[in-house]
This record gives sequence, C-alpha cells and structure tokens, in this order.
Amino acid sequence: MSDTQPGQTANAIDLASIQELINANKNQAGALLPILHAIQDKLGFIPEHVVPLIARALNLSRAEVHGVITFYHHFKQAAPKPHTLQICRAEACQSMGAEALWDKVCQHRAVRSQELDVEAVYCLGLCSTAPAALLDGRLQARLTENKLNDLLNQLPAQSDTKGNA
Ligand code: FES
Repeated sequence: MSDTQPGQTANAIDLASIQELINANKNQAGALLPILHAIQDKLGFIPEHVVPLIARALNLSRAEVHGVITFYHHFKQAAPKPHTLQICRAEACQSMGAEALWDKVCQHRAVRSQELDVEAVYCLGLCSTAPAALLDGRLQARLTENKLNDLLNQLPAQSDTKGNA
C-alpha cells in the first residue's frame, strides 16, 4: 500500500524520504529496479521530478531512467486513482467478450470522472471463468456488461468493503 492519497500532487511528495530510499538501494547490483520498486511502493507511482534524483545517484542519464520506467507496465507515472480495474485481455477472455467489456468500461462515468484506472492484464488464471478482471484487487469472473456496470456503479460502497473478499 502506498503512502500517497488518490489525487495527491507530485509537488506534495517528500523528496527527502525519496532520497533516503535511493540512498538505501543505490549500492546494490542492478540498483535501478529496486529503487523504482521502493518509490512506487511508497508513493504508488514514480513522479517525473524524482527521475533526476535517481539518475544522479546511479550515474545514469534521465533518458535511461525514463526508458526503464516506461518499459515496464508495472511502473506508473501518475498518482493512483481511488479505484483500479484490471481487465484480462488475453486469449480466453478475448474469446468470451473481454474487448467489448473494455470498450464499455472506458465509457463509464467512473473513468471519465477520474475515479477509476483501467488497465489491461494478460491472464489472471481464471480462463475457465472468462471474461475475468480484478477490481481493487478482488477477482471478478464471468463478467457481463450488466455485471460490470453494477460493480462500477457501486464503487464508493466497494471501497468501504475492500479486502473483505
Ligand atoms: S485469459 Fe483471461 S484469465 Fe486467463
């Protein structure tokens, strides 16, 4: 769980604590990935303005650091939204209508109002109950447009019960 609150601005981030994370990891072999993981674990994303701190500590260019951040989908470059929906777009789920769900959810008011991040994932191990997704970390199987719509319309209530699977 990150220390960042949804909607927190990058300017509000304590750079001293980020520098501590960098210093704690910079001397290990292949330090860049551990540093990026540590920052994302703390903040929920990698703010653009910490890239120069990382580059300086590791004697890399900013472009090299930025290249690694953008290469791995795991690393986020913007503060997390209150909710995250990860829709499986791998073969079994695609064959059961995941692409239509993806298109539908991208039109939902929760996405438009910045309450919901929508991400593609590739197989959640629920192929036999496709199409599948994770909503705020909770598995959702045999999704239909109606079921997904109901889940998204209940998002505020879901945040209160998160973790009560
Ligand atoms: S392909 Fe979607 S869960 Fe396996």
